Amino acid sequence: MTPRVVIVGSFVQDLCFNCEHFPAPGETTLGRFFTGPGGKGSNQAVAAARLGAAVTFIGAVGDDAFAAGARAFHRREGIRSILIPKRGYATAAATVLVDATAQNEIVVALGASARIQPSDIPPAALRGSRIVVCQHEANPRINAHVFRLARKQGVTTVLNPAPMRGDFDPTILRHTDILIPNETEFVQLARALKLSRSLDEAALAKLDSVALQKLCRGFGVPTVIVTLGSRGCFVSLADRGELVPAFKVKPVDTTGAGDAFVGGFVAALARSPTHVIAAARQANAVAALSVTKPGTSPSMPTAKELARFLKTHA
Ligand code: ATP
Ligand code: RIB
Repeated sequence: MTPRVVIVGSFVQDLCFNCEHFPAPGETTLGRFFTGPGGKGSNQAVAAARLGAAVTFIGAVGDDAFAAGARAFHRREGIRSILIPKRGYATAAATVLVDATAQNEIVVALGASARIQPSDIPPAALRGSRIVVCQHEANPRINAHVFRLARKQGVTTVLNPAPMRGDFDPTILRHTDILIPNETEFVQLARALKLSRSLDEAALAKLDSVALQKLCRGFGVPTVIVTLGSRGCFVSLADRGELVPAFKVKPVDTTGAGDAFVGGFVAALARSPTHVIAAARQANAVAALSVTKPGTSPSMPTAKELARFLKTHA
């Protein structure tokens, strides 16, 4: 059994609609519907658990049918799940639109997830764990609390700042060992920290490795990994930066690719803590497999599927 990964974040019931094109304001389009388990934290927990990691998930849910579904789902996935009930609040839910080009648009209502408090975290939650992961779908106070606890216990802290929020407090970066933003979040973070006034996603895409490494170092975080969609990811370590290319696949739904990446990354890192580039390569493969299937948590590959994929995609 590898050392435990603890993921603190959101379970979200995803209400997914496939459509030819996203409706314009005022427009109604026909589509196909399905619902399934989602939420950035929970998706990451599923991705890591399916790869054999020992995973604890901590989140909050309402007193409704979605909560019962979440408990049953985590049980089936072999996740040690601590879902704190929040009376009077709904379990988080999201509308996920996916168009014919596999792009998505999401609105998420956090409900109970945003109500999780530091006092909800069991004092022994991190005992015996190697890595703890937080995102921005619960609340910022909980992330700061969890990372402070982790630092006291020598647990590696991973922050996936998704989605980027207006109330982001940069002081959490002082307690972060590994930061994993996507391109949008990277640009927003760089602006919030005043590392660059003119940076946008188009400019980011044109940066060479030297310039990107310099920007990454400005965050003051030991390891920064920028996910770059179909280009893969850029891994910035203290002394060097390296582009780790994506695997070539035909995407049908990229929703949750970032979560697959984070889950795949921490599952590998829990086994081999010093092999960051190898973990990023595994993360690219897990995320590539996830974009070939619809849905978020349901699209996360198993260890067997990953092994088969890596054999044919050396
Ligand atoms: P999402 O918000 O859709 O979950 P994201 O914007 O957080 O995704 P991306 O940077 O788009 O994250 O993708 C995360 C990772 O998924 C990439 O680093 C890459 O490894 C993989 N990936 C995404 N899109 C593709 C693709 N079209 N082909 C192969 N791999 C992909
Ligand atoms: O990252 C994808 C997730 O973001 C979806 O599962 C949805 O729940 C939103 O929170």
